[in-house]
Amino acid sequence: MSDTPPSTIVVRPGPPLQGVVPIAGAKNAVLKLLAATTLAEGRFVLRNVPDIADVAWMGELLEAMGMRVDRPRAGELVVDRPAVIVPEAPYELVEKTRASIVVLGPLLARCGVARVSLPGGDDFGPRPIDMHLRALEALGATIDVAHGMLEARATRLRGARIVLEFPSVGATENTLMAAVLARGTTTIENAAREPEIVDLAEFLVRMGARIRGAGTSTVEIEGVDELVAADHTLVPDRIEAATYLAATAVAGGEVVLGGARADHMDLLLRKVEQMGVSAVACSEGVRVVAPERLRAVDVSTLPYPGLATDYKPLLVASLAVADGVAIVTENIFAGRFRYVDELVRMGADIRTEGHHAVVRGRERLSGARVRAHDIRAGAALVVAGLRAEGETVVADAHHIDRGYERFIDKLTALGASVERR
Ligand code: EPU
Repeated sequence: MSDTPPSTIVVRPGPPLQGVVPIAGAKNAVLKLLAATTLAEGRFVLRNVPDIADVAWMGELLEAMGMRVDRPRAGELVVDRPAVIVPEAPYELVEKTRASIVVLGPLLARCGVARVSLPGGDDFGPRPIDMHLRALEALGATIDVAHGMLEARATRLRGARIVLEFPSVGATENTLMAAVLARGTTTIENAAREPEIVDLAEFLVRMGARIRGAGTSTVEIEGVDELVAADHTLVPDRIEAATYLAATAVAGGEVVLGGARADHMDLLLRKVEQMGVSAVACSEGVRVVAPERLRAVDVSTLPYPGLATDYKPLLVASLAVADGVAIVTENIFAGRFRYVDELVRMGADIRTEGHHAVVRGRERLSGARVRAHDIRAGAALVVAGLRAEGETVVADAHHIDRGYERFIDKLTALGASVERR
């Protein structure tokens, strides 16, 4: 998939959703695994790769460095990493997908130098990388910033004990991918514990890395001299799964999230059960059965295994049509409430104050013209449109394509009335 032009999605309320929706591999895992392919020469094969814009852009970034990225068949990505690459990530590509900052650690570890354009802010606020840089400095890197470009250098990184101020996903990943080739042992304390980090660690171990404790707050990495290319099948995308879960909760019906891992979505499943949804593991994935009307519950985001901030727009859209009043608290990205104004345009009764929102549920919303500001906000507006009278027209829907493959097709297959214009 290449750049997608701006587009609009039109949603109408329809019958309850029915069927099985296949869940793709996790966006937030594959982007990091692609960064990890810079660590070793050879051919890598990744399976269960979602066909989304962010993956295409990350592929472009690897190609700009002199690597080759092919998609021989649906769901498979083959990466060829030659002996010599250009360890540089230019502004045009970093700006498209800020996740590309995670090339900094592996490039530095493998090439001794990395030049990466500074990522800017996001639609939900600033995206600082101070923790990434402090951790790499603790491993012995010298970092300079000039003209919007970061330059990190180190002849050979050395293991260190790193205590992160906050369990940042990106800082944990950058440190992990730098430490695998460092001399000696690195310990990351207060590490992020997301399933995508475990997936990255498993991939690195297949490449020959020595890592213990991924998925816990203390990760120990014993540096090795060299890594080799490897194959890997990605974990399913828990946020994509949560999106179809929310769509079912809002539209009503019974849907199986095919291939989803209930154990990666523990708290979310408990939360939606309090809202009256039945969401239980089954042989095919997770079976979701919606109630007649959702019940309001309070929601508060936290690092994994807490409720993911990426679930929140979907939960707010669901609470907007639930019975009762809910307080929603955002603890990860303070500014992540921009989509609330769009939901209010659809008749939702939501008031925000700092990092809190009070959501008073309504029986139905009212279709309106709204705008997607980011991936999850866009998906949440489409979900809200499933219970809004008339037509909901979501502009800037290209944001949704950054993180969801065949979004319209998958929803339509479940019986939703959704089309791209
Ligand atoms: N932070 C700092 N300094 C740093 C790094 C992070 O202050 O050096 C702060 C951030 O500003 C934020 C908090 O720490 O307040 C958490 O940020 P984190 O580093 O954990 O987030 P991230 O790695 O930038 C990933 C996902 C996001 C997801 C967050 C939180 C990817 C590509 N992105 O971002 O996913 O919201 O973790 O779980 O993995 C999305 O998929 O749409 C998305 C935005």
